[in-house]
Amino acid sequence: MAVHSLLPLLLLSLLAAVSAHNITDILAADPQYSDFNNFLSQTKLADEINTRQTITVLALTNAAFSAVAAKHSLSVVKNLLSLHILLDYFDNTKLHQITNGTTLSTTLYQTTGNANGNVGSVNITDLQGGKVGFGSAAAGSKLDSTYTKSVKQIPYNISVIEISEPIIAPGILAAPPPSSEVNITALIEKAGCKTFASLISSNGLVKTFESTADKGLTIFAPNDEAFKARGVPDLSKLTNAEIVSLLQYHATAQYLPVGSLKTTKNAVNTLASNGAGKFEFTVSADGDSVTLHTGVHNSRIANTILDSTPLSIYSVDSVLLPTELFAKSPSPAPAPEPASAPTPSPAPTPAGAPSPLPASPPAPAGETPAGAPADAPSSAAEQSNSSGKSDSVHVKASAVLTVTVTALSAFVISTYFMQF
Ligand SMILES: *[C@@H]1O[C@H](CO)[C@@H](O)[C@H](O)[C@H]1NC(C)=O
Ligand SMILES: *[C@@H]1O[C@H](CO)[C@@H](O)[C@H](O)[C@H]1NC(C)=O
Ligand SMILES: *[C@@H]1O[C@H](CO)[C@@H](O)[C@H](O)[C@H]1NC(C)=O
Ligand SMILES: *[C@@H]1O[C@H](CO)[C@@H](O)[C@H](O)[C@H]1NC(C)=O
Ligand SMILES: *[C@@H]1O[C@H](CO)[C@@H](O)[C@H](O)[C@H]1NC(C)=O
Ligand SMILES: *[C@@H]1O[C@H](CO)[C@@H](O)[C@H](O)[C@H]1NC(C)=O
Repeated sequence: MAVHSLLPLLLLSLLAAVSAHNITDILAADPQYSDFNNFLSQTKLADEINTRQTITVLALTNAAFSAVAAKHSLSVVKNLLSLHILLDYFDNTKLHQITNGTTLSTTLYQTTGNANGNVGSVNITDLQGGKVGFGSAAAGSKLDSTYTKSVKQIPYNISVIEISEPIIAPGILAAPPPSSEVNITALIEKAGCKTFASLISSNGLVKTFESTADKGLTIFAPNDEAFKARGVPDLSKLTNAEIVSLLQYHATAQYLPVGSLKTTKNAVNTLASNGAGKFEFTVSADGDSVTLHTGVHNSRIANTILDSTPLSIYSVDSVLLPTELFAKSPSPAPAPEPASAPTPSPAPTPAGAPSPLPASPPAPAGETPAGAPADAPSSAAEQSNSSGKSDSVHVKASAVLTVTVTALSAFVISTYFMQF
């Protein structure tokens, strides 16, 4: 068998290793869990479960779960479900051999930042007669849910067990304000993204965000340091339409909590995506670190500002620069940095991409002869950071990157074919 036909298989098995279990598949085997399963998918908690190891899902039958799920909003159901995902591995044996007969386990709810004190943990206690009781770890809670049976184990990656009743922590069923009533500007401002907050206010983006928030919206707000970084384009050189596109590029009309971002393989379109330009980016994850690749520049998720179905807001550590506005040469650097981890899907290739916005020439690179790779990145780094020059520095650096990437891939391809 030729080596080249094995290569895709190798890649596939690499991808498979990233997600060794699929909770949707596991629960689909028993229709009694259909509601629980559907809600794990709707809230995207399934993605979160699939990307984690050493995890226990406390499954509920439709009889136990459907009534409470029907009474509450999706974001409340998400919080409730998060409390049923333990960040530890408990199978039948371990449940019956708990040291001192009682323990607390952290849950996914604890990681959302919504849980104070012990509210995000679950108390597991061995009761008389071999029963195992579950309840909230918050003081004064009852252990009124019990272990009924084991559903599926993949030691020590995931254990799915059934319990008799939902575990209700104090306050967990209280409804948060609906997404349309969240003051997005105030939240973003408070999270250290004042510049972005003022830009979206003054350019009318807040209204767009508010009207989209109820149908699924994710915002990536660059923090204030990001706007001070070298290489950030001088906004005063952009047309109003370009500024609006740039800001729209920082949001997508879908709900993407962290677990979903980590499993996103396709290019993500944004509010700026339209007939004239793709305005997409790709996402890669390495452990808990999530990086967005625009094709010009990479940006990392710094913090989750809000995760409240169907609205999520993150702060990011760099301004997202779309190739449609900031890559002038016919071959903008399409790939993530060569050093970064293998990404399932490469950044959008420029080959088939439509040309930049017809009415608005890509202003920032204006005076710079594109593709002048003579300057090494190191010498670019020594240049002044004053706004006038920063753009050209940036464009040159990305041209150098393109050349490096192209050379590198040529090298890889030739070594690859030399084997035959
Ligand atoms: C557990 O997960 C790891 C990493 O995802 C994987 O390599 C391993 O094969 C899994 N174990 C089992 C028994 O599936
Ligand atoms: C998990 O299984 C479901 C149902 O078979 C499928 O639709 C989904 O794409 C799978 N998810 C992953 C991450 O493979
Ligand atoms: C079990 O109980 C003993 C005695 O009360 C205590 O010293 C020990 O720390 C406990 N172990 C755990 C894991 O809680
Ligand atoms: C779990 O709850 C029971 C009953 O309220 C309590 O006695 C026990 O101390 C709790 N376990 C832990 C580890 O807090
Ligand atoms: C939202 O917060 C911003 C900034 O704090 C404030 O200027 C604005 O008035 C608030 N909007 C509403 C509707 O309360
Ligand atoms: C830009 O350079 C000036 C001095 O040349 C310095 O004071 C300032 O902190 C620098 N700004 C950034 C964002 O590096």
